[in-house]
Amino acid sequence: MKKGKVYIIGAGPGDWQLITVKGLEKLRNADVILYDFLASKDLLRFAKKYAEIICVGKADGLHLLEQEEINNLLFKKAREGKVVARLKGGDPLIFSRGIEEILYLKKNGIRFEIIPGITSAFAAPQSFGIPLTRKGKFSSLAVLTGRKSSNAPLDAPECDTLIYLMAVSNIKNVVKTIVGSGRSRLTPCAFIERATTSREKIITGNLKNIAEKVKKYSVKPPAVFVVGEIVRYGKKIYGDKFKTK
Ligand SMILES: C[S@@+](CC[C@H](N)C(=O)[O-])C[C@H]1O[C@@H](n2cnc3c(N)ncnc32)[C@H](O)[C@@H]1O
Repeated sequence: MKKGKVYIIGAGPGDWQLITVKGLEKLRNADVILYDFLASKDLLRFAKKYAEIICVGKADGLHLLEQEEINNLLFKKAREGKVVARLKGGDPLIFSRGIEEILYLKKNGIRFEIIPGITSAFAAPQSFGIPLTRKGKFSSLAVLTGRKSSNAPLDAPECDTLIYLMAVSNIKNVVKTIVGSGRSRLTPCAFIERATTSREKIITGNLKNIAEKVKKYSVKPPAVFVVGEIVRYGKKIYGDKFKTK
């Protein structure tokens, strides 16, 4: 039997051009493409003429297929000898269930390859001129979730910059956790929504007023929440684009 293979591909944060060269090449060759809502639809035009394209629709809280069904589908298509591209938003292994898919494929003897992508955690701040580190000034950052299952306590480790994904709907608890860990309420922060797309926007503030601003400017997922003095660089670097609200 011809053996199939699954490529777990990071689609990048939003702008389709931010996929890697390798990711795009594997996508072009795929017989089947399974993609999430967060992966840019613009990438689908690179699919082969008769490729089967399936939206599995995973985004915050909205799943068209359950994880088990996705695992089974990947397995089934690869067993049929097909080359499968599993296209996931950002990096496929950051706050994603990509690892569950990989473990399932591994357990069932299916060949796979992981193709990393640019995570929104890094792309969103940078797309508004906010660096992630600066020599001698900001040397540590943490990427965190703003929402945990069963309402488990959130994390706010001691480091220069905190970057939260999935924080919009739980912003009050996120702020409470950060302030509770000893940060000043005046610490600068920003929400970056739909980064690297034509609909991207940034809302800046401090820990005292950001929850109110999220409501006022109706910030919606997908958005990245960045906390720390480093946020101030955005304005210096990107001036006009960095129109703070
Ligand atoms: C389930 S996580 C997936 C993260 C993805 N694997 C990555 O590396 O970017 C979904 C969260 O990623 C963030 N996100 C993804 N794409 C984004 C974008 N274009 N702009 C801002 N945030 C984004 C949001 O915090 C969203 O709630």
